[in-house]
Amino acid sequence: MERTFAIIKPDAVERGLTGKILDRIEEKGFKIVGMKKIHLTRSQAEGFYYVHKERPFFNDLCSFMSRSPVVVLCLEKENAIADWRTLMGATNPANAEPGTIRKDFAKNIEENSSHGSDAPETAAFEIPYFFNSFELVG
Ligand code: TYD
Repeated sequence: MERTFAIIKPDAVERGLTGKILDRIEEKGFKIVGMKKIHLTRSQAEGFYYVHKERPFFNDLCSFMSRSPVVVLCLEKENAIADWRTLMGATNPANAEPGTIRKDFAKNIEENSSHGSDAPETAAFEIPYFFNSFELVG
């Protein structure tokens, strides 16, 4: 079993898409082992996206991620990291496969509705950034 970290981003929570996205997650066989709704501060968003701090989109991305609440999730299944990224679709919804969350719900490359860890080392940083061990229940 593998765990990954996911976010339902502000654009999706704002439009009332949380339930629809959670439904897809459970339909695909992910177990939700951690979940909470939080409103990130700007510095929390900056810390989360630290690896992107030199990228041109960093400031706008951190403003977007802290403008309204998100739902953070720890998901578990076999191949959770790769399978969640497949279910999300490509970063830019214009390039995402039909049936993916980003194709169906994302507004554009920035407001793209969801986040997923891209590797085991990333998940190992991201899960404890948001959850302590008592908040993860298998
Ligand atoms: P990235 O890690 O490349 O994508 P992913 O979320 O698919 O792992 O980028 C992180 C986030 O940064 C991405 O979800 C949306 C935002 N972003 C932009 O706003 N503009 C861009 O050109 C890129 C590449 C990303």
